[in-house]
Amino acid sequence: MARIAIVGPGAVGGVMAAWLEKTGRHQVTLCARRPLGELHVETPQGPLVARPVVLTAPEQAKPVDWVLVATKAYDAAGAATWLKGLAAQGAPVAILQNGIEHRERFAPYLPAAQIVPVMVDAPAERTDPTHIRQRGTAKMVVQDDARGREFVALFAGTPIEVVTTPDLKSAMWRKLCLNSSGVINALILQPTAAMHDEQLGELLKAMVRECMAVGRAEGAVFEDGLPEKILASQRAAPPDSVNSIQADRAAGRPMELDARNGVIVRLGRQHGIPTPYNEMAVALLAAMARK
Ligand SMILES: NC(=O)c1ccc[n+]([C@@H]2O[C@H](COP(=O)([O-])OP(=O)(O)OC[C@H]3O[C@@H](n4cnc5c(N)ncnc54)[C@H](OP(=O)(O)O)[C@@H]3O)[C@@H](O)[C@H]2O)c1
Repeated sequence: MARIAIVGPGAVGGVMAAWLEKTGRHQVTLCARRPLGELHVETPQGPLVARPVVLTAPEQAKPVDWVLVATKAYDAAGAATWLKGLAAQGAPVAILQNGIEHRERFAPYLPAAQIVPVMVDAPAERTDPTHIRQRGTAKMVVQDDARGREFVALFAGTPIEVVTTPDLKSAMWRKLCLNSSGVINALILQPTAAMHDEQLGELLKAMVRECMAVGRAEGAVFEDGLPEKILASQRAAPPDSVNSIQADRAAGRPMELDARNGVIVRLGRQHGIPTPYNEMAVALLAAMARK
């Protein structure tokens, strides 16, 4: 029986909480900003109802065996307030967030050995604070090391696909290539069907190439034809699919703009690699958000 605390009971946190509780092998605690009742999760395998312990103040947190952080990247500082209690005895802290800076984000709060970056691909959204819809298979990738293998074991017996890789960096940069191009949808406020447009398709590929250039300078390895594959995947997706940065902009919520595009601009500058498409997207979207 592992004691697992999940910080951030949103779409990803809720899906993980429900499946981990369903194993019957773990004691799951949710760390939330407000009280929650039962959590209802619609999954591809049917409905789940989770009844985890819910904490609403970091002072209530006691040491656990594993912590999963599933807040948005921009909420890292708030998430970290829980870690003093939860990770006091050295528990590993898995960071289930988009982007590539999982370690950098939590380095001010935790020793490096406790940080377990996770590449998460879990299509899900909250319809209200206690209802979550998991739209497809959740997949996660972690580094192939002792902590990574322990993390995989937590999910044994669930339909969540968790695998290790010897090259997590490349896996994360590949995901960033896809995510960074999602800013186009956020700018035009149109779902994936928009990518059938030839000019937008060319723009998507150019943005992916920028991300790949910076990723390569950082040591990531990419397969041939990645920009074309990403464009093809967008054109094959349900035409009304809305990515999270578009959904956040449309709802007037904060956006993970820095984690998904700002990082490409910042690291590009460090390596002397121009990233004009990302730079323009960041400037425009930031200006629109301020307005
Ligand atoms: N959803 C997806 O399909 C998906 C897929 C792949 C990757 N991701 C990534 O996974 C991460 C989580 O995304 P998400 O979609 O699950 O976000 P989300 O639905 O917005 O959930 C984030 C949760 O974090 C909570 N939170 C924020 N600050 C907190 C704090 N100080 N203490 C406790 N809880 C706090 C929020 O609380 P409130 O309820 O109070 O707002 C919310 O419940 C992001 O990096 C995202 O890009 C998401």
